[in-house]
Amino acid sequence: MSEQKTIKIFDTTLRDGEQSPGASMNLNEKLEVAQALVDLGVDIMEAGFPIASPGDFEAVKEIASTIRGTTICGLARCNDADIDRAWEAVKQAEQPRIHVFLATSAIHREFKLKMTREEIVRRAVAGVQRAAAYCDDIEFSPEDAARTEHDFLCEVVEAAIAAGATTVNIPDTVGYALPFQYGKTIGMLRDRVPNIDQATISVHCHNDLGLAVANSLAAVQHGAGQIECTINGIGERAGNCALEEVVMAIKTRNDEYECNTRINTERLVPTSRLVSSITGINVQRNKAIVGRNAFAHEAGIHQDGMLKERTTYEIMRPEDVGFARTDLVLGKHSGRAALSDRAQKLGYHLTGEQLQLVFDEFKKLADKKKEVYDGDIAALIQQQIQDDQVNQWQLVSFAVTSGSQDTPRVQLTLQYGDQQQTAESSDGDGPVDCAFWAVEKITGVKLVCRDYTVRSATLGRDAQGEATLEVEHQGQVYRGRGISTDTVEATIKALLNAVNRIELLQTGDDLGTAD
Ligand code: KIV
Ligand code: ZN
Repeated sequence: MSEQKTIKIFDTTLRDGEQSPGASMNLNEKLEVAQALVDLGVDIMEAGFPIASPGDFEAVKEIASTIRGTTICGLARCNDADIDRAWEAVKQAEQPRIHVFLATSAIHREFKLKMTREEIVRRAVAGVQRAAAYCDDIEFSPEDAARTEHDFLCEVVEAAIAAGATTVNIPDTVGYALPFQYGKTIGMLRDRVPNIDQATISVHCHNDLGLAVANSLAAVQHGAGQIECTINGIGERAGNCALEEVVMAIKTRNDEYECNTRINTERLVPTSRLVSSITGINVQRNKAIVGRNAFAHEAGIHQDGMLKERTTYEIMRPEDVGFARTDLVLGKHSGRAALSDRAQKLGYHLTGEQLQLVFDEFKKLADKKKEVYDGDIAALIQQQIQDDQVNQWQLVSFAVTSGSQDTPRVQLTLQYGDQQQTAESSDGDGPVDCAFWAVEKITGVKLVCRDYTVRSATLGRDAQGEATLEVEHQGQVYRGRGISTDTVEATIKALLNAVNRIELLQTGDDLGTAD
């Protein structure tokens, strides 16, 4: 039997995924995700867009210098400053890659770039050459390739490869392509671009029509060798191709695709949960592969079939994608080693000091709750990662008065660096309204609430409450998430999480991708 082709998995959760509204991550959170992506087995991770902000640059640089075992890529527009900055950020990686992009479609040429075809080709070649002078792994993306005239797309791709691109990515930037058409475009490039064999063809599909995974798979059938995707499919607008879905489609339907990936599929669920808890973007229950109900059989006829023979209704085994058989893990007699083991299985990498702090919190929680579940442990670790970030607002203490006969009040003390400040709300609609008021008063950040939910993080009436909110500040949406056995405390933590994201992003530039 001939050896099967291995499709490279290029994860862009930390770059395109982070562009989802409100999904920005701080440095510690990005490092956690980066390590989880290595454990998952991605071939390349796009760690960020270094010119976008000092925070982005620092994050890519830190990932490049500390994370091992995969290629680390930085994104750059086709100009000298971007490319130099991207190289500065990734140069310490074990295997660095620079990814340069420039739009090629008529609509982008005319309205966004105001450049002729000749100028685009010249600029693309110059950008790739500059990047190739720094390192030998260069990816070039003709942005909006799926809406670019075929003749021109062939011309740009050929020129980029001749200039030194080792991967040519064909983005469906606006999620407009259809599977048969996108697959044919990849086949067309293979037929018409004379030097195409000198580069890997990559695909990058957005999900505006819900076709990102289908389009990526069609491209694989026509010879694509790399798929760009994100955990849980997060990304701009409707998101990107979902890593877990495309990988499991290739694995489960190996009879048709006859290729494989290097992904350790048992890490899919833990990685999905890690990204969801860090970004505050919940995974819908019926989401393929990683949704809580993805393997739940409700109908009696299905349950009956399953009991007789699993494969009657199940095409994958839950354990193959990392669903644990049982969620019940630790109690108040569990030790640090058990906690450390559980944390690792959940995808976290804690330092000795972090483990000790999480263990102290775990003991307090185990005193309040008899049974501590995976969701509780993830929440404690998540809080610790948030708290580890320096220069940010942290909750010191709060007190609430509320009742049918009382005026609701919240007294709140917060800390920033070594400064503490206290505020007391005088009135409000209820404790949540008072909490918003007190957080705004102390931090000076105005927040408009767009969405707010509280749900139970795990099982049982003593479960921790998870508050998730979306707030608007100066026209931008930010997310926050907080967990506690007390729902007002969870809400305050979620508000602080959102305020800290706002402050983090305000150090960045407002960067378009115009040229
Ligand atoms: O969607 C897109 O075109 C992109 C490029 C930068 C590759 O994200
Ligand atoms: Zn994209």
